[in-house]
Amino acid sequence: MDYLSITGPSRLGGSVTISGAKNAALPLMAATLLCDKPVTIDNVPDVADIRTLLKLFKKLGSRFTFDDHTLVIDNEAIDNTTATYDIVKTMRASILVLGPLLARFGRCEVSLPGGCAIGQRPIDLHLKALEQMGAVIEIKNGYVVATAPEGLQGAHIIFDKVTVTGSENIIMAAALARGKTQLINVAKEPEVVQLCEVLANAGVTIEGIGSDELVIHGTDRAPVCFEPFSIIPDRIEAGTYLCAAAITYSTVTLENVRPDHLDAVTAKLHEAGCRVSAEGSAMTLHPAARLRSFDISTTEYPGFPTDMQAQFMALATQAEGVSIIEERLFENRFMHVSELQRLGASIHLKGNTATLNGPIQLLGADVMATDLRASSALVLAGLAASGVTNVHRIYHLDRGYEKLHEKLKNLGAKIERLSE
Ligand code: UD1
Repeated sequence: MDYLSITGPSRLGGSVTISGAKNAALPLMAATLLCDKPVTIDNVPDVADIRTLLKLFKKLGSRFTFDDHTLVIDNEAIDNTTATYDIVKTMRASILVLGPLLARFGRCEVSLPGGCAIGQRPIDLHLKALEQMGAVIEIKNGYVVATAPEGLQGAHIIFDKVTVTGSENIIMAAALARGKTQLINVAKEPEVVQLCEVLANAGVTIEGIGSDELVIHGTDRAPVCFEPFSIIPDRIEAGTYLCAAAITYSTVTLENVRPDHLDAVTAKLHEAGCRVSAEGSAMTLHPAARLRSFDISTTEYPGFPTDMQAQFMALATQAEGVSIIEERLFENRFMHVSELQRLGASIHLKGNTATLNGPIQLLGADVMATDLRASSALVLAGLAASGVTNVHRIYHLDRGYEKLHEKLKNLGAKIERLSE
């Protein structure tokens, strides 16, 4: 197993190119199941989660090539509609094939994802919405068995909670349903918006794109055809590099970003004393003279993203004063706290709120990655800590960060990828 060895404290500089957004690429790849012609997608990040979904597509009978971030995928010959446990257990987002497979083929079986390191993460809202669209859903041998022999029927659906992949699943299902589907309390994340835009370009009429109420006019099972498109930049990867610059008091420029997708993140960086300037698709972080404490409460887009909570906790260890970080989306997304404490951070955890006192001079240690974003927080802390920090179990990082150690090395970090 590989681990990252970081010698700090680091000073970074220069520029880094941000990859395509994994969380936009996954639903858009799933959306290609609505199409029976080849689809070309550019700027697809080469990360483990994308490879996992491709493994699933291979089992379904898709043909594809994936070279230099361009995916050409042909789902004409799909002869299997089962997403098996071995794949779904490694990546929960595999659930994204449920809506499109059911909509196009009238039946599918998708393994229930089961537990997760950051919380319970049920899929009840996905299933309830599909039932409202006429699907019959049974749970058999750990699988969701969904059938809709006559196709799905448009419906009026109100999501009890804002769910990102839940919204995406139902948007894809509605695209091929019979009649009109009204969705209320839909997620507004940029990844959901891109999914709607790509479907709209493919001829599906969608009203209200970018808002929390959508009206989707289904094609009544007629497959849709996609023009080639490019995945939006990864706002979470971008936010992580902004934090890397901030925590090391460095000036770093990000290329290939959408600054407007990062408003909540840059607002907090300003509160912490940094300055972020944007020009076109580039953003530069100018470090604070002295990092100041800040408070964070995670929420749905356009609020502060839960996927940036851990990285900002690493930053708060270096900020002067008391920072309060409240996690409102997932019940157990504080696994990084005890690892940051191993580096010397002063964090008091009560319920879903962490209180930090800073700044603390972190000291390098061995730490263990527990989930994707928690892992990146440990890398950030390692950049600020003095001495050697070894971050173990980095397969979590590989799921969502393309060439993280190479990108950081190019920025000047002393970081090596080694084998245990
Ligand atoms: C997506 C992102 C993930 C991000 C999260 C929140 C992808 C592939 N993953 O995950 O990186 O952290 O959004 O921004 O895009 N819930 C239910 N029932 C459901 C569905 C969700 O109760 O059927 C709850 C969840 O437990 C959680 C909240 O709703 O408390 C939000 O979860 P959701 O938006 O669905 O997260 P994901 O789509 O899994």
